[in-house]
Amino acid sequence: MVVAHTSALSLPLLFALLGAFDRVRGTGVDALLNTSTKGLKSNFFDAFDILNITVGGRLHKALPFERPCFSIVEGKHVNVSEAACAALQANYTNPVYRVEHFGAYMLPQWETCQASNFTNGCLLDSSNPSNPLAYEGVNCRLGNVPTHYIDVKYVEDVQAALAFSALTGVRLSVKNKGHDYKGRSSGRNTLALWTTGLRDISHDDSFTPEGCSLDTTYDTITTGAGVVTQDVYEYADGINRTIIAGYHQTIGFSGGYFLGGGHSILSPVYGLAADRVVQVKVVTPDGIYRTANECQNQELFFALRGGGGSAFGVVIESTHRTEPRFPVQAASLKFTPTGTDLADWYSLLVHNSLQWANDGWGGHIVGPTLLHVTPLLNNSAAQASMQPAVDFVKARNGSVVIEELPSYLAFFNKYVTAAQAAVGPELELGTRLLPSSFFSTDSGRAQLSALIKDTLSFASPYIVAGTPWLYKPLDGAAGETSVTPAWRDAIWHLSIKWQFQYNDTLEERVEGYRTLSAHIQKFRDLTPGSGAYFNEGDVYEPDHENSYWGADNYRRLLAVKRKYDPLHLLDCWQCVGWKGEDDDLYQCHIKL
Ligand SMILES: Cc1cc2nc3c(=O)[nH]c(=O)nc-3n(C[C@H](O)[C@H](O)[C@H](O)COP(=O)(O)OP(=O)(O)OC[C@H]3O[C@@H](n4cnc5c(N)ncnc54)[C@H](O)[C@@H]3O)c2cc1C
Ligand SMILES: *[C@@H]1O[C@H](CO)[C@@H](O)[C@H](O)[C@H]1NC(C)=O
Ligand SMILES: *[C@@H]1O[C@H](CO)[C@@H](O)[C@H](O)[C@H]1NC(C)=O
Ligand SMILES: *[C@@H]1O[C@H](CO)[C@@H](O)[C@H](O)[C@H]1NC(C)=O
Ligand SMILES: *[C@@H]1O[C@H](CO)[C@@H](O)[C@H](O)[C@H]1NC(C)=O
Ligand SMILES: *[C@@H]1O[C@H](CO)[C@@H](O)[C@H](O)[C@H]1NC(C)=O
Ligand SMILES: *[C@@H]1O[C@H](CO)[C@@H](O)[C@H](O)[C@H]1NC(C)=O
Ligand SMILES: *[C@@H]1O[C@H](CO)[C@@H](O)[C@H](O)[C@H]1NC(C)=O
Ligand SMILES: *[C@@H]1O[C@H](CO)[C@@H](O)[C@H](O)[C@H]1NC(C)=O
Ligand SMILES: *[C@@H]1O[C@H](CO)[C@@H](O)[C@H](O)[C@H]1NC(C)=O
Repeated sequence: MVVAHTSALSLPLLFALLGAFDRVRGTGVDALLNTSTKGLKSNFFDAFDILNITVGGRLHKALPFERPCFSIVEGKHVNVSEAACAALQANYTNPVYRVEHFGAYMLPQWETCQASNFTNGCLLDSSNPSNPLAYEGVNCRLGNVPTHYIDVKYVEDVQAALAFSALTGVRLSVKNKGHDYKGRSSGRNTLALWTTGLRDISHDDSFTPEGCSLDTTYDTITTGAGVVTQDVYEYADGINRTIIAGYHQTIGFSGGYFLGGGHSILSPVYGLAADRVVQVKVVTPDGIYRTANECQNQELFFALRGGGGSAFGVVIESTHRTEPRFPVQAASLKFTPTGTDLADWYSLLVHNSLQWANDGWGGHIVGPTLLHVTPLLNNSAAQASMQPAVDFVKARNGSVVIEELPSYLAFFNKYVTAAQAAVGPELELGTRLLPSSFFSTDSGRAQLSALIKDTLSFASPYIVAGTPWLYKPLDGAAGETSVTPAWRDAIWHLSIKWQFQYNDTLEERVEGYRTLSAHIQKFRDLTPGSGAYFNEGDVYEPDHENSYWGADNYRRLLAVKRKYDPLHLLDCWQCVGWKGEDDDLYQCHIKL
């Protein structure tokens, strides 16, 4: 454990620290300061006890999510809890269940210490959670789950944690709903800030960002960091508005999602979440609670609009523009492929996707399944636009529905909750933003179709048509985001995936990462100068600064990081300004 030197603390942090610890003066803070200057090893728990008082008893020790099924936990024999284990097994791949548990991550390899040469975690077999081989006689370990977490309720909780980290050298992680694909919300031996409980939602039909002149107004919804997609969709619908958000029920709306960019299947018309956020309230790593928008802290605001992860602070709430409630046309197509069907299908998709993007369609394609939506067409125009795909699917006796639904919520509830990406299996992604030239020119279409055809023997690419193709950013600072400019010219955000098994050996995990990287590398080679989506990129994305942000944005982002986080209190994997993979914070990430 590294002990920070108090002399290196910035002045604002010291003020925050004094404020945060004010309530506990005389109850042991002097002892904490004492131990911190000597090194905490011997008094580790004293320090956590003091922190616990400071945060009103909301500090908890983390436990492995799956432990009710195990009779050995951290080497100790314990009693299996049959009822809790049965509930867990029944719900192992249910996001609504997982999201309630601190120790659960949607991609559970991040609960484990993957760099370990054995299975250092506590997983069930996601393909059969009742498989006793996963838990009988197996030692359940905490793995990569943080040892402690604060159930964040107040700004002061975050300030206390930052001060604690600066004083003791205990590293921090920030978790919200646990959907991270890159292991940025867990971390062995970290103290986690769990922002899941910040659930306020409110509407303002003429919101003026703080510090702006009163003629700047937006119709907005403000959500606490812990509000999930499903809840914000329902709230918006209830006030006769539409909110633009992700393709999954339990993603946090005001946390990692918009911080990394945030795509929606309505993004082709309405932009990314980073385009639509108008104000963020955030505790920066120096301990100050700041408001960032187009009129104040503009560089921080820029950084929070795509710069990603927790690198620039802990978000307490954010405010996003809404749209009127509108009807949508939905297209749901599927068939059973035989022979060369799949390659022909992807080729057809490549040939039509530019037109579809121009028609406002956004959606997901997984092998022979397409689910798209457009707010721009009426039903007969939607039928005509989709005709080439409809003909293809009907010729193979597949199913086709093209229907109008009264609202995006109606569409989401009818189709998306059944189609959203799986959680529970140990999935890893590699992704690439595919520029329009691969859809608008004969040679581009031929090259892309050929590469997809080659890839099919490995995996069917998962296509997100969710790039801001028709969207025009607002003028000036109101429209500035830090996502890679490659988003603006892309038609598809393409991904391929790899699934680990609960009992993979270190060699098998290494092999998985290498294999996936090699496949996505072919898409990088095809599209030099394009980029990838930070939230869903390859864990080992090469040249990630250019890939996720582009060189110009990265320079600005790095300046913001250095200004607010000189002590690296809120670093994360491949986040802006990280110290690199050898930082102890990433001890469970395999070093390929
Ligand atoms: C099944 C699934 C479907 C997805 N679908 C989409 C989609 O449709 N569109 C899309 O754009 N993305 C999608 N994603 C990716 C998703 O947006 C990101 O993983 C996002 O970061 C998840 O947010 P979270 O709160 O669940 O994640 P967490 O794992 O809790 O956190 C993710 C990152 O954000 C940071 N963070 C979380 N909360 C805060 C906070 N309050 N302040 C500062 N930093 C914070 C964490 O430190 C971490 O770096 C999907 C992911 C999954 C697993
Ligand atoms: C702090 O340390 C000093 C010297 O080690 C000791 O005399 C003093 O009693 C300690 N104070 C507290 C509050 O523990
Ligand atoms: C923090 O305090 C609360 C309330 O006293 C207690 O229930 C909890 O166990 C404490 N947490 C830790 C990690 O000791
Ligand atoms: C386990 O169960 C046995 C029998 O019911 C009980 O005696 C024992 O105390 C329990 N052990 C723990 C660790 O709870
Ligand atoms: C699964 O989780 C849901 C939601 O948390 C819960 O209502 C249900 O009881 C769980 N299922 C079982 C079999 O325990
Ligand atoms: C794992 O690594 C440890 C320490 O390097 C070593 O002692 C142990 O033998 C290794 N175990 C296996 C299964 O390779
Ligand atoms: C909802 O909004 C739409 C579009 O703005 C409007 O036409 C409609 O009258 C509104 N309905 C209600 C009940 O307010
Ligand atoms: C549907 O939209 C098309 C194209 O805008 C238009 O020509 C047509 O008249 C519309 N049909 C109906 C029924 O509104
Ligand atoms: C589709 O179904 C029809 C009628 O059942 C059948 O004649 C035809 O062979 C089928 N075609 C395919 C490609 O399966
Ligand atoms: C991993 O689990 C599977 C399914 O339970 C089992 O068949 C296989 O033998 C296990 N592999 C190892 C190396 O234990």
